[in-house]
Amino acid sequence: MNEKEYISIADKCIMGTYRRYPVVFTRGRGMKLWDSEGREYLDFVAGIAVCSLGHAHPAVTRAMQEQAERLVHVSNLYYIEAQIEYARLLTENCALKKVFFCNSGAEANEGAIKLARKFGNDSSSGMRNEIISMIASFHGRTMATITATGQEKFQQGFHPLLPGFKYAPFNDLETLAGMITERTCAVLVEPIQAEGGIRLPAPGYFAGLRKLCDERNILLILDEVQVGMGRTGSLFAYEQEGIIPDIITMAKAMGNGFPLGATLAGEKVAAAFEPGSHASTFGGNPLGMAAARATLEILLSEGIIQECRNKGSYLMARMQELQTRHKLIKEVRGRGLLVGVELNREAAVIIARAMKRGLLIASAGPNVLRFVPPLIATKQDIDQATAILDEVFKEEE
Ligand SMILES: Cc1ncc(COP(=O)(O)O)c(C=O)c1O
Repeated sequence: MNEKEYISIADKCIMGTYRRYPVVFTRGRGMKLWDSEGREYLDFVAGIAVCSLGHAHPAVTRAMQEQAERLVHVSNLYYIEAQIEYARLLTENCALKKVFFCNSGAEANEGAIKLARKFGNDSSSGMRNEIISMIASFHGRTMATITATGQEKFQQGFHPLLPGFKYAPFNDLETLAGMITERTCAVLVEPIQAEGGIRLPAPGYFAGLRKLCDERNILLILDEVQVGMGRTGSLFAYEQEGIIPDIITMAKAMGNGFPLGATLAGEKVAAAFEPGSHASTFGGNPLGMAAARATLEILLSEGIIQECRNKGSYLMARMQELQTRHKLIKEVRGRGLLVGVELNREAAVIIARAMKRGLLIASAGPNVLRFVPPLIATKQDIDQATAILDEVFKEEE
């Protein structure tokens, strides 16, 4: 089948929830993707911060193949070998020592919201169950997570939303402090607002937030779905803020492309979940756990996370260089390999032009180009992407 035929079938059979670029991907390896017409692309999207080790990483593929031959699925009615092994490795590398496994970022946040409400309600005869999240945040597309998401565009048409959510401005502790009441059980926040335009926390913001949550006896939930697993230069982003949150959610890069999610909590908070409180048929499934274990072992052993900081600085420096030549760039910001380039125009036009030249980039809001390449991207890859963008910007100007 050719591209046109694929797209016409897709338009007929698949619900139109995505505004897709007209390309059909069939194969990937490392930093590269190939489409149905054999065209090659340099991938700075990585499935939106998912394939951190690059496409079809041989060790992850091998781990999944070996697991698929032994056991693909078994219920959480039983203990599961592959789940236990990954849970041990993950919690050894996280300050929070208990984990619940699920299948996506939204589901990880659903778990966090339920856990925070259960913990709050249990300790207050059902009084403490409100959550404060941030304006311009993004937490997923389920009913609870679009409610938690502080952007109306994701909520339109889906009312009534869930009760018990309030929205505070990011980076503003004073306003947040004024919104906390005796009903508040938790604050939910991304370490860096990614979908919201790659917005970084002000220095000291998270230390202040931790202090505020402690003083007011409320839980601090960090949504590390996009920033976690090494992307910002440490396995978890909280490590760079000098704080320990009460609950962490993670997903995207966990299985290098295999769909997985997790909600982590400390012993005391996790104890609010009792048998029957929460569940997921596929959560912690052996096949996914094998992929997650292989991914984490490689991330931890090959210096990828440490190098990611240098590569991120290099990518930002190259983008700042472009900014000196191209007036359409307003600002370059980011941490590690989560980099945003804010433009004075729509990002979609630039993305489409870059794609024609064989470079994939994403957006974060209407005007920000988002670079979330595999963490294995080399300086040469960054140079190639910069050269393509230079051409694209020239063409656009
Ligand atoms: C910070 C954050 N939380 C949650 C989600 C939702 O994850 P998923 O699409 O896996 O449900 C995303 C997805 O982009 C995200 O960036």
